[in-house]
Order: sequence, then structure tokens, then C-alpha cells
Amino acid sequence: MGRPASDSANDTETGSYAETVARAERVLPGGVLGRHVYPDGVEHIPVSGKGAWIVDHAGREFLDYSCGGGSLILGYSHPAVVRAVQAQAEQATQFVSIRNFPALHLAERVTELVGWVERVRFALSGAEAVMFALRLARAATGRDKIVKFEGAYHGNSDYALWGMAPRTAVPYPATAPDSAGIPGAIGELVLVAPYNDPEAAASIVNREWREIAAVIVEPVQRYYAAEPGFLETLRRVCDARGIVLIYDEVVTGFRHALGGAAELTGIEPDLSVFGKALGGGLPVSAVAGREAVMSHGDPKRGGPEDGYCYVTSSQAGNPLGCAAALATLNELSRPGVMQAFHRSAEELKAGLHDIVERRGATAAQVVGSGPLWDIVFADGPIRNHRAAVRADSARHRRFHLGLVEQGVMVRIGGRSYFSTAHREREVEFTLRAADAALRAAMR
Ligand SMILES: Cc1ncc(COP(=O)(O)O)c(C=O)c1O
Repeated sequence: MGRPASDSANDTETGSYAETVARAERVLPGGVLGRHVYPDGVEHIPVSGKGAWIVDHAGREFLDYSCGGGSLILGYSHPAVVRAVQAQAEQATQFVSIRNFPALHLAERVTELVGWVERVRFALSGAEAVMFALRLARAATGRDKIVKFEGAYHGNSDYALWGMAPRTAVPYPATAPDSAGIPGAIGELVLVAPYNDPEAAASIVNREWREIAAVIVEPVQRYYAAEPGFLETLRRVCDARGIVLIYDEVVTGFRHALGGAAELTGIEPDLSVFGKALGGGLPVSAVAGREAVMSHGDPKRGGPEDGYCYVTSSQAGNPLGCAAALATLNELSRPGVMQAFHRSAEELKAGLHDIVERRGATAAQVVGSGPLWDIVFADGPIRNHRAAVRADSARHRRFHLGLVEQGVMVRIGGRSYFSTAHREREVEFTLRAADAALRAAMR
């Protein structure tokens, strides 16, 4: 598991792995920072990263596909991001959230790249920006309900954690919360529809439109993409019913295309939410879109009776994050960078296809739209949540554990992200590891 790195980056921490876990459990719920845990047998605390590779507490090197949950689109410690952060840190790490030059430059860059966007408001996480987008939609329409798609993750807010990972299939548009502590009353305001089923979504909207503020959709949900006709229908019914169409582009933004999902599909939403890749590893997100909706965040409006919608925080437009984001977008905009990034990801997926065929793994399929990838174990196409949960999760887990065993760090059970630092050598390394991991998983 992992190769010894030339020198350990972990020279200030002492104690065994078990002792470190015990220390963590004394101060962190479950000994972890969030929801993900490493399964028994995987002992890993990342301590440094360079490009596509990370070094852990034991000095072992791994090829990494967790990519900071998809934030590290340029890989770890990209020189352009490091330079931008260092230069900005010398000037100031934070200002009051009124105006600053890094944030202004970044907003201009976002509007240049995503042509239909007229206004941008920054936040720190994808969840926060989604929450703002939904609030803006409610402010703009004077309605309270939202439509979301089963299986979609839109962050950790009370509005978003419905129908994300339902344990039992309830009839649409009803839903259940994904977390304790979420007021049941909010469930009355969240309508859940099946992904890639335009008729089902249209019928929910047409029935309840008088109360619907927004339809929020991921252009690529988990690893399955919106099929032709799906976004078109959502756009059409939203237009017909005065509903705000929101793309959650926290995953796809500046990853699948620099111009966002509208560049790929030709269908423009009213608002988009960006995060993850935008900050290049620093916490930056944005809600962006049409002036008519975004103007509800203009403080000149006064109070709620004037339609003023509260969309800010102390760290909104943090200059350090904005400097990193600007460097990231500039790097991605350099000629050939996006093309090489996508080409390498497609080479990896083609290689995985070959392995699946060679191994005769008929129930295994390579999935992932654009620079996302995984192998799942299911027959038939996967185009929505209910098809995805029918896949063999035990075998999937064995495949992921096999990858880790071979020195490829993935989030067990999660999807893998590609970065611009994953090139030919990394693709070859991954294919060798995947061959062994697939063999073990099929046993
Ligand atoms: C599609 C999507 N939206 C929103 C979020 C929430 O982003 P964050 O974790 O930055 O709050 C995520 C996170 O994985 C996501 O995948």
C-alpha cells in the first residue's frame, strides 16, 4: 500500500497511527473532520502533496484521486496558486467584505468565462452558495418551494439535505431528510423528482408551480450526465411558470468546461453555483447569474419588504481565496490546458474500458462524465439514483480498497476526480493498479 517517499514530510508528528486516531477521537466527533472515514486496514493521514501525488503520515506516496474533494483541479501546490497565495498573503489575508481588487478581478474573470453571467457574489463553500441561490430564487419569485432531483447532493444546508441518499424509495415528489436535526417543516417545501426524467419533473412543476421558486439541477449528477432533452425541458417549464432555474455547478464548474454547463449544453440557467475547482484548493464559491435575480442581493434595496435578500458573510470575497481562484482560472485558460486535461481523463477511461473487457468483467462498467471516473458493478445503463443504488456496493468497495492497496488513493465508495497534474505517467500507474484491483474485486 503506497510507496515509501524519498523523505517523510511528517517529521513533527510522533506516535503510532492508533495513538493519533485516539487523539483525534478525543477532540473530533468520530475522530474525523466530516462524514468520510477510512475503513479498517486503511491507515492514512495525508501530510503533503505535489501535483497528483500525496505523502502520508508514514512517509508513503500515493497517486491521489480524492483531489481535496474535487477542489484541487490543478493538483497539489500548483506553483501558480502557491505564488498567488504567497503574494496576496504579503499584502493582506482578509479585508472587510465590501470591495477588494482580487475579488473584483475574479468576478470579472467569471463573467468573461461564463458568458451569460451578469453578476457574481462570493461565498466560502458550495453549500453556502447553494443556500444563497435558493434564497435569491425565493426572494425573486415570492414563492417558497424548490424542486430537486433524487440522489443529488447540494451541500449541508437544511434545504439541501432531502432526497440525497434515501434509504427507501418514497413516491415522488415526497422525500425524507438525510440528517437528524432538520426541521420537518422544510420537507413540505422540497419536492423531489427523478433525474433524467423530463416528463416527471414537468408534471410536478405544472402541478405545484404557484408555490415553486426554483428548480435546482446538477448538469452531471454523481457520475451520470443530463441526457439530451432533460435540461431543455427544465428550462422550458421554468420559463413558462416564472421559476428560477439553478445549475449546481459545484462539480462541473471550470472542470467540464470553462464556460460552465451552458457552454456544453447550450441551455442557460438563471443562476449557477460554483465551488470546488473555482478556488483551486482554497475555500471559494460563488452564486452567479442574471441581474434580475442577483439584484435582490443589492443592499441598496433596503429591507425584506423591498426584496432585499441576505447574501453575504464576513469572509465573502476573501482576497486570499480570490487570488488563488484567479490564478487557477488563468492557468486553466492557458492554451491547451483544458484540452490536455480532458484528453488524459478520456485516455484513462478508455484504458479502464479495455481492462474491463479483457477481464471479461461483464457486470462492471466504467462511468464518469468528463474528468470524473469510477468503475461500478451493475448491468444496464445508470441514469438516475434508483439505478445507481442497484449496483453491487460490496464489490465496488473491494475495487476501491484494491486501488488503495496498489498505491492509488480514492475515497472508498466515492467518485474520483482527475486533475491537470494527472498525465501519461499517472494514467499508466492507475491502469496497472486498476487491473489488479478489478481482478481482486471480481474474485
Ligand atoms: C454538486 C454539489 N453541490 C454542492 C456541494 C457542496 O459543496 P461544499 O462541500 O463546498 O459545501 C457539493 C459537494 O460535494 C456538490 O458535489
